[in-house]
Amino acid sequence: MSELRHPIGTFDVLTPDSRRWETLVGVFARVVEGAGYGLVLTPTFEDLSVFQRVGASTDIVRKEMYDFEDKGGRRIALRPEMTASVVRAYIQHRPTTPWKAWYVGSNFRYESPQAGRYREFHQVGIEAFGAVDADLDVEVIALGWEFYRALGLRRIQLLVNSLGDATCRPPYRALLLEYLEGRRDDLCDEHRERFADNPLRILDCKRPTCHAVAAEAPKQVEHLCDGCATHFARTTGGLDSLGIPWTLATDLVRGLDYYTRTTFEYAGLALQSAQNAVGGGGRYDGLVEEMGGPATPGIGFALGVERILMACDAEGTLPSPPATVDVFVVDFAGGSAARDLTAQLRSAGIRADRAFDGRSPKAQFKSADRSGARLALVVGPDEEAAGTVVVRPMAGDRQQRPVERHRVVAEVSRLLAP
Ligand code: HAM
Repeated sequence: MSELRHPIGTFDVLTPDSRRWETLVGVFARVVEGAGYGLVLTPTFEDLSVFQRVGASTDIVRKEMYDFEDKGGRRIALRPEMTASVVRAYIQHRPTTPWKAWYVGSNFRYESPQAGRYREFHQVGIEAFGAVDADLDVEVIALGWEFYRALGLRRIQLLVNSLGDATCRPPYRALLLEYLEGRRDDLCDEHRERFADNPLRILDCKRPTCHAVAAEAPKQVEHLCDGCATHFARTTGGLDSLGIPWTLATDLVRGLDYYTRTTFEYAGLALQSAQNAVGGGGRYDGLVEEMGGPATPGIGFALGVERILMACDAEGTLPSPPATVDVFVVDFAGGSAARDLTAQLRSAGIRADRAFDGRSPKAQFKSADRSGARLALVVGPDEEAAGTVVVRPMAGDRQQRPVERHRVVAEVSRLLAP
């Protein structure tokens, strides 16, 4: 039988790596909960229509979605991103606004797998509903920035753009179309025939031909209506005021259809350029209504966990935290002491582990070493008979001494106290 392996484009995370994931999510929760965001959980799969509304002309929805018919004949999709799900949940439950939510979870996109690009990947993110205020744009962008800083990342570049709104996007789109019409022959094969569906996509196309055309195209930021121009100025001014460096990226259109006004991306400068977006987001003031809810503005971002960890590796930050137990019980007197002592220690809030299957003392001490425990509690036949436990520090002078069994939890607590 051939060996079973995880599917292409997916991966397993084992310790010690998984401890970095715990740290990363913990740091994220601390940063965003400190600004009033609360955890939201939504299903990993949704009705296909939830996602069809957010990206009918995007690769993410058109080409990369994992969709299928379930056993009840429903059209289902594994989520390719979480904003649409959170909007669906907002419309369904109508929490009072402003509603500020954060999330962590996996997403599915049928892409060609490579370093930093997976078919199942993970995001942490936030979404905030119910305020048009540009200061909310500043808050959202700043929280992402603060999170990267908290992880120790320093080589992050913040790219910002404005995509206008229902007032200034249509005339800009017409202008762009006219320009692209004139440059049709210079576009890549895919876009030569299809650019009229969504001309903004050309600005995002990575192929060199389109890239050259995009460089000379009219820019949305130069064609904003007064409302969008004021909003953009207040947003970027707010970033300046908070001391967050940002770069205007006029070609930043993002890979989803729902954006209005502010869009942004965080680029990991220590990463390979093709996969260096460690996060991105923007405003989507029309999306809630488009999905059947009451007109409600929204803004948020999602950050890619795998890419952030790659950036951490490249910058030499966020090492795996050390193993977590405090005490390892070595019992070569039958195992009852190990069974009872670990339970007592854990009840007292002390992290404790042990070996099983009557391993030799040597093997048990090896496990104790590997566990990272600061103390070993040793019970051999002599201690068992005397009702004692030998307490042995795992580092330093290793001076060990016997303690009466009924006093051992208190003694361990004393020794571990900071
Ligand atoms: P997105 O730009 O599609 O936006 O994804 C956000 C981040 O997820 C990317 O910057 C990247 O770090 C990570 N990512 C995307 N695709 C992959 C992949 N195949 N493998 C590994 N990492 C990946 C969104 O998903 C929007 N929902 C963001 C948003 C929230 N906009 C408003 N609110």
